[in-house]
Amino acid sequence: MVPKKRILILFFHPLAHKSRVNRVLINSVKEMEGITIKNMYDLYPDFHIDVKAEQRDLLNHDLIIWQHPFYWYSSPSLLKEWIDLVLVHGFAYGREGKALAGKQIMTAITTGGRNEAYIPEDGKRYSVPQLLAPFEQTVHLCRMNYLPPFVVHGTHLLEERDILEAGSNYRKVIQMLRDESLSEEEIRKENYINHIIL
Ligand SMILES: Cc1cc2nc3c(=O)[nH]c(=O)nc-3n(C[C@H](O)[C@H](O)[C@H](O)COP(=O)(O)O)c2cc1C
Repeated sequence: MVPKKRILILFFHPLAHKSRVNRVLINSVKEMEGITIKNMYDLYPDFHIDVKAEQRDLLNHDLIIWQHPFYWYSSPSLLKEWIDLVLVHGFAYGREGKALAGKQIMTAITTGGRNEAYIPEDGKRYSVPQLLAPFEQTVHLCRMNYLPPFVVHGTHLLEERDILEAGSNYRKVIQMLRDESLSEEEIRKENYINHIIL
């Protein structure tokens, strides 16, 4: 069966060889049909991003996933560089910039902080969706459809079996998205996309 959606996972981890969680997430989905995975720090260790190649890959996929560990409430710096260089005026936004219109995009992050660290309290804490607002806004400007994030919290406390379970959940979510098992409207009701498999 031809997958309904072609999925591109752009994986940003500057220390992928030391990763416990992201490594398992990637391994859980890498053999799936219809999924392309790019290890961005391997491809661009010196940050010299091949803009044309990146734009071509975006055009050839229907759902883009930015996967990375949460760093200082944001992404590792190569993703910011990628956004600055690849999502340019006339391609991704602006009157003529409609190349990405209608594509779906989602963030998949792992956080050292536990779930409780991301529950708003007296204005001292922010939720993950709130912290991801700049990414969401960027996506809106590019006329793409932003999906709720896939989130794995408390990475340092996770045991091997918890990490494997996170990998299995990631695979299920990606499978559902690829096969369009749920409408986008249903998916958008969740704050974390993890909940669609519950
Ligand atoms: C530079 C740096 C910044 C980090 N910033 C955050 C942060 O803002 N919030 C958080 O919850 N965890 C933070 N962490 C913890 C990482 O998110 C965590 O180590 C990672 O998700 C673990 O995934 P991995 O096993 O794939 O490396 C940070 C880690 C590093 C190295």
